Amino acid sequence: MESKKKICLGIESTAHTFGVGVLDFEGNVYSLVNDIYTPKEGGLHPVLVKEHHLNNFMITIKNALSNANCSIKDIGLIAFSDSPGLGQVLKIGAIIARMLSQILKIPIIGVNHCIAHIEIGRLMCNIEDPLTLYVSGGNTIVSAFESARYQIFGETLDLSIGNMLDSFARDAGLAHPGGPKIEKLAQKSNNYLELPYVVKGMDLSFSGLYTAAKRLIESEQYGKNYNLSDVAYSVQETCFAMLTEVTERALAHTEKKEVLLTGGVAANKKLQKMIEYICKEHNARFEVVPLKYAGDNGVMIGWTGILRYKMEGGQEISDTFIKPKERMDQITVPWRD
Ligand code: ATP
Ligand code: FE2
Repeated sequence: MESKKKICLGIESTAHTFGVGVLDFEGNVYSLVNDIYTPKEGGLHPVLVKEHHLNNFMITIKNALSNANCSIKDIGLIAFSDSPGLGQVLKIGAIIARMLSQILKIPIIGVNHCIAHIEIGRLMCNIEDPLTLYVSGGNTIVSAFESARYQIFGETLDLSIGNMLDSFARDAGLAHPGGPKIEKLAQKSNNYLELPYVVKGMDLSFSGLYTAAKRLIESEQYGKNYNLSDVAYSVQETCFAMLTEVTERALAHTEKKEVLLTGGVAANKKLQKMIEYICKEHNARFEVVPLKYAGDNGVMIGWTGILRYKMEGGQEISDTFIKPKERMDQITVPWRD
């Protein structure tokens, strides 16, 4: 059996997913195990997510190691998500990583979750220098590498796209996660109902759209002049057109030749089609990150940890504090220079 001595254990713990990835320093993946907290109703309550992860982290790590055919002694590097996310939840990953690093006497490295989404996309899609549209339950960001950093060219000013879709779906009586259900319903309609389209400069706002969509399903006209499919279709058309507009402008400005679509909302076929269209117009290669790696996972954290470790070595334990509000454009990316 080949030696797996130089494996990295990556731990994702920013929100609902406690994810563990096992991979080697060349980017070969041996396992990916996710344990996801799903609220029975409403949004994510940090205390409940924390309790869920505390109850499940050990078995998740054990399963990831055993799926990879590795023992804890094979781990040569531990990477964990140190930002951004829910403070109480980030702390869990940090404590586990700090403990493993000290018990096993192996280096430790903290990783920004948003940068990890881009890096795993670059690895899995074999793409060099993309403009990235990262759309998920917590984030809506258009980013590209420029001046030694992953710069943010556009972002949401209020709700993230996934949060907006999930919230609207919940109001319409659909179970979490709402994004895929909205997509299915939208396929049954082409009756567009006017909704607020808000792009401010390069940034996006979804809160007015959310409120207007909610009003449509509370209106007396609902069920008479239009149905839920029509509203779902109109919501998707509006918010995806907004994302496409900002992505296209960033593409024209940065003149990148590749576009990467990632995050949980990247699964949406309509959004994929719209972004693919502008890529063709601009002669850019278009890639969607494979869904297993597009959502939150420990492999992306491990891989980004490896990239930094190769450049800078491990961190001092005293430097491995969590940074719940850290933005990706605050961080240097030495492996891209
Ligand atoms: P992050 O922490 O990066 O913000 P996350 O915790 O929200 O991510 P993801 O798995 O990246 O987790 O994304 C989940 C989101 O993706 C949910 O809002 C869900 O509704 C949405 N989603 C999943 N599939 C689809 C789809 N087919 N169409 C639209 N939205 C989708
Ligand atoms: Fe994420």
